[in-house]
Amino acid sequence: MLLLMGVGALAAGGGLGVLLEGCAGPPVTVKLTVDPATLVPGTPTEVPFTLTRSGGDSLPGSTWLVKHNDGSITAFDPRCTHALCQYGWNPDVAKFKCKCHEGTYALDGTVLAGPPPRPLGQFPLRLVGDVIEVDVPGDFATPKASL
Ligand code: FES
Repeated sequence: MLLLMGVGALAAGGGLGVLLEGCAGPPVTVKLTVDPATLVPGTPTEVPFTLTRSGGDSLPGSTWLVKHNDGSITAFDPRCTHALCQYGWNPDVAKFKCKCHEGTYALDGTVLAGPPPRPLGQFPLRLVGDVIEVDVPGDFATPKASL
């Protein structure tokens, strides 16, 4: 059985998508269409989604999913904690890297280098049947593009 953990936010791989649901104020529950069985432990997967708030506005977002050896999953917020740039996974060094100011995070989201003041944020996550749901803060904003 898949154990789930995490608070916080993504995308990689073909066929990954997201359905959005719920908009009664923050947070907004987002259903990820990625099959949790396809996640590889230790290999982050970015899953894109479209966030639609109760007011009707929508914006693109994503979450980095990390499956752990015990089957639990963490959903990382896609925004660097320094200045909200989009970061990515660098498989060559097995670290999350932010190109804006060279922020570097470990697989568990802890800061390894650069100016980020705190670890990566997480989206609360739960498994409902075979569907991963994450709770995205209602004030979520699309990450700034990397430099
Ligand atoms: S925004 Fe990521 S290191 Fe500055």
